[in-house]
Amino acid sequence: MRKKITVVGAGKVGATTAQRLAERNVADVVLADVIEFVAEGEALDLMEAGPIVGYDVSVTGITVKDGAGYEKIANSDIVVMTAGIARKPGMSRDDLILTNMKIVGGWGDQIAKHAPNAIVIVVTNPVDAMTQLMWTRTKFPKHRVIGQAGVLDSARFRTFVAMDLGVSVENVEAYVLGAHGDQMVPLPRYTTVAGVPITELLPPDKIQALVKRTQDGGAEIVNLLKTGSAFYAPSAAVAEMVDAILYDKQKVLPCIAYLEGEYGISGVYAGVPVKLGTNGIEEVVQFKLNDAELAALQKSADAVRALNKVMGI
Ligand code: 2OP
Repeated sequence: MRKKITVVGAGKVGATTAQRLAERNVADVVLADVIEFVAEGEALDLMEAGPIVGYDVSVTGITVKDGAGYEKIANSDIVVMTAGIARKPGMSRDDLILTNMKIVGGWGDQIAKHAPNAIVIVVTNPVDAMTQLMWTRTKFPKHRVIGQAGVLDSARFRTFVAMDLGVSVENVEAYVLGAHGDQMVPLPRYTTVAGVPITELLPPDKIQALVKRTQDGGAEIVNLLKTGSAFYAPSAAVAEMVDAILYDKQKVLPCIAYLEGEYGISGVYAGVPVKLGTNGIEEVVQFKLNDAELAALQKSADAVRALNKVMGI
C-alpha cells in the first residue's frame, strides 16, 4: 500500500507542499483546511495536473469543521502542519502565537486521535514553540514530532553564499541552528564551498552581512510580498525532510528537535542537526561548537522557552 501524507492547511505553503509531494509520485496526499471546499478545489486541480506531469498518486481535499471530517486523516504516515496565520510586514513570527496556538493545539488532539502512528512535521510559526505544542498535545514520542526551519534557513544561507561567491548552490553546504527568528544561529565554520569553510573564503564583515541577511530572510520576503510570507522554499524544505523519512535516508539535516541534554539544553525544542530516517529523528547529531556558538544556541533555546511559557506549556 502506498504511504499517506496529510498536509494541514491549504494556504500557499500547504498547497505548494501538496504539489511537491504529489509530483514525487510516492505517497497519496490528503490536503485539509477549515475553509469550505478550498482544499477540495486545490486537490482536484492537482489531480488534473497528474496526467500532464506524470503522477498517479491520489490527492484528496477535505474540509474539517466543527469537529467533523478529521477521520479522513486516518492512518497518515506523515502529517505536515502548515495551518495558521502568516506574518504581515512589521510583524515578528512570535506575534502569531496566540492565534496559531489554538489551531495547532486543536490539530494536535485530532492527529493523536486519528493518526496515532504518524510522524508530524510542524511548519506553522512561531515554529519552534508550535512544535513543542504539537508534541505536548499529541503526546507522541519526541522522535515523531519534528519542526521545519533549519533546512529553509540553511537554504537561504546557501543561496546568499553562492550568489556572493559566484558558485553553484550545489557546492555550498550550510548549517543554521537555533530558533527560527532573530535568534537563529548560522554557523559559518560549518558552512563550506566545495568543502572549504567560508571563514577561509570571505572577510568577517562580509560573512556577518550574509548571516544577517539569512536571519532576516523570512522578513525580506514578507516585505516584498506584503500580503503573505514565503512558500516555495518552505515547501521545498518540507519535501526534503519527507524524502529523508520516506526513503529512510538517515540524512543529516538541521531540524527542530526535542533536546534532553544535547548541546547543554534540556526540556525544549530547538534547531539542531539531526539524522532523519524512517522513524523520524533517529539521532541528534552533536557538532563540536565553540563557546560563542554554544552560547548563541542556548540563548536561542531560551527564546523558545519564553514562548512556551506564554502558551502555558
Ligand atoms: C519564513 O521564514 C514563513 O517563517 C517562514 O519565510
